[in-house]
Amino acid sequence: MKLDIEYVRAQFPAFAEPSLNGQAFFENAGGSYTCAPVIERLTRYYHERKVQPYYAFDASRVAGEEMDEARLRLAAMLGVETDELSFGPSTTQNTYVLAQAFREHLGDGDAIIVTNQDHEANSGPWRRLAESGIEVREWQIDPVSGRLEPAALERLLDGRVKLVVFPHCSNIVAEINDVKAITAMAHAVGAVVCVDGVSYVPHGFPDIGDLGADIYLFSAYKTFGPHQGIMVIRRDLARALPNQGHGFNGDTLYKKFTPAGPDHAQVAACAGMADYMDMLFAHHFSDHREPKARARAVHDLQRAHETELLQPLLDYLDGRNSARLIGPADARLRAPTVTVELADKGFDVAAALAPHGVMAGGGDFYGARPLEAMGVDMDRGVLRLSFVHYTSREEVDHLIRALDHVI
Ligand SMILES: Cc1ncc(COP(=O)(O)O)c(C=O)c1O
Repeated sequence: MKLDIEYVRAQFPAFAEPSLNGQAFFENAGGSYTCAPVIERLTRYYHERKVQPYYAFDASRVAGEEMDEARLRLAAMLGVETDELSFGPSTTQNTYVLAQAFREHLGDGDAIIVTNQDHEANSGPWRRLAESGIEVREWQIDPVSGRLEPAALERLLDGRVKLVVFPHCSNIVAEINDVKAITAMAHAVGAVVCVDGVSYVPHGFPDIGDLGADIYLFSAYKTFGPHQGIMVIRRDLARALPNQGHGFNGDTLYKKFTPAGPDHAQVAACAGMADYMDMLFAHHFSDHREPKARARAVHDLQRAHETELLQPLLDYLDGRNSARLIGPADARLRAPTVTVELADKGFDVAAALAPHGVMAGGGDFYGARPLEAMGVDMDRGVLRLSFVHYTSREEVDHLIRALDHVI
């Protein structure tokens, strides 16, 4: 069974948009195109029910029901309970709030572990806990491979560690970390884990219940949805952490860590991501499965398509003397978020690709820590070429032809 790429692309209005015609999109790690069901739900919400939700009058009742539907369906896909999933403005704001909760929760003699592979969103707010007397230990990447070696984590773990923070997949290195194994290591010393899934989930919705993570974060605007951060906090931990919302909301787990009022329309529109995943499932499979099994099947189709397209791009870049490929050269080990260091500034190379019909970006992508650790010249930064399951083989060929002209 292969992903039907024509069907996939037909679900994204961007591919029918004349102003984007002929443009090969390779900055998906910054934010994906939005699928039609999300746009339709958002439009319908603004047209028909842009009122305060959860009252008895029809427009309000339906607005609330749609918000609940989004939480319920996404939680089911992700293998967690409905009250364990909450929406915030972004992952950066979600980690900020979580860090405040841990600041109150942890005490003298407690330690946390952060990595230097993470995006700043899942690093800086945690590191600042040092200001409150919490010991912050750094799990460092290998400077050549960019890899987080489990053996290095083992050396940092002891009974004082209460929290381990790491990415499912870095937006720079892109190697897929073994969340299940790392979580088991942390749990063995009594620590909980917070996993940044922002760079992983665009490539397939994971079974968070199976991974075992206590906290798992991702950003819907990179997973074909609206601009929301999505946060899963498992019940035991959510109950133990201090309330960060209004006092009277402290017993409602999905409100406890979202102090700002939710963006009702965007929360409701998030159900469109579940619609889209279900459409992909129904198009490719004919049997009945539970939401999490449907998500898994689609995840595997996405991964297989992406891996097939990624290997030729990695081979091409790895074979160029002028390019240093960051992260694994084997597509099976990584996401299709491909960072390269070049003789010229990443930003300038991305700009040079634009006239060739390639949309890409350059810079540090808020990943200065891994780039510095790998010895990348920060004045030059890197070029990043990232794609997802809706990318076609023709677009990858288009990219490689364009790269031939500019690097
Ligand atoms: C790996 C990773 N984590 C976190 C973030 C921050 O997400 P948000 O923009 O939702 O704050 C990003 C954004 O690019 C990211 O790539």
